[in-house]
Amino acid sequence: MRRRLESDFTPPSDICPHPEYWHTGDCETTEQEVVELIGALVRALQPELVVETGSYKGVMSESIGRALKQNGHGRLITFEIDAVLAEVARRACRRLPVEVLHQSSLAWTPPGKIDFAWLDSGIETRVQEFEQYYPFLKGSIIGIHDTAPHHPVRAQVKARLLDRLSPIWLPTPRGVLLAQVL
Ligand SMILES: C[S@@+](CC[C@H](N)C(=O)[O-])C[C@H]1O[C@@H](n2cnc3c(N)ncnc32)[C@H](O)[C@@H]1O
Repeated sequence: MRRRLESDFTPPSDICPHPEYWHTGDCETTEQEVVELIGALVRALQPELVVETGSYKGVMSESIGRALKQNGHGRLITFEIDAVLAEVARRACRRLPVEVLHQSSLAWTPPGKIDFAWLDSGIETRVQEFEQYYPFLKGSIIGIHDTAPHHPVRAQVKARLLDRLSPIWLPTPRGVLLAQVL
């Protein structure tokens, strides 16, 4: 995918005055530098079950899948409601320990503990996903994308989830909340 400057999509802000330092394929794909961070976290945490909501074109799914392959154990289940995008993501992840499910993230019950989750689906569904998966997330690390002050996800997280999280707000262009689930 051709990389563009994140500043094509996100203006400078108080928390992130230089969005041009980051790169991305388009306005939906996570910033490349954040994709690399999450891949590195999967290497550091050595999870067995990883969940991503919102596969889109599979850029983050591929990064997580490569990390899991390098770990030598663990799998990613990633959800995408758009059939065409689910197929694009499947192709990006072939030969990796990744299952791309063409279904809503909300129509799924985890089979057991989720060791790491990347919540990046619809703006309205991320908080619902957390609430639905919560019994399977206790003690685990999660990332929620688009939590910069200009994104509505931030206010939803603050209003509904903060009592169950030990958070770090990363000042990336679109914002990332990394947290341990209490
Ligand atoms: C911001 S994009 C995901 C970007 C991707 N995670 C990445 O890092 O490149 C959001 C995607 O979530 C999908 N989506 C929205 N609501 C969903 C849901 N409830 N379940 C599964 N996918 C959903 C959309 O179709 C879209 O492709």
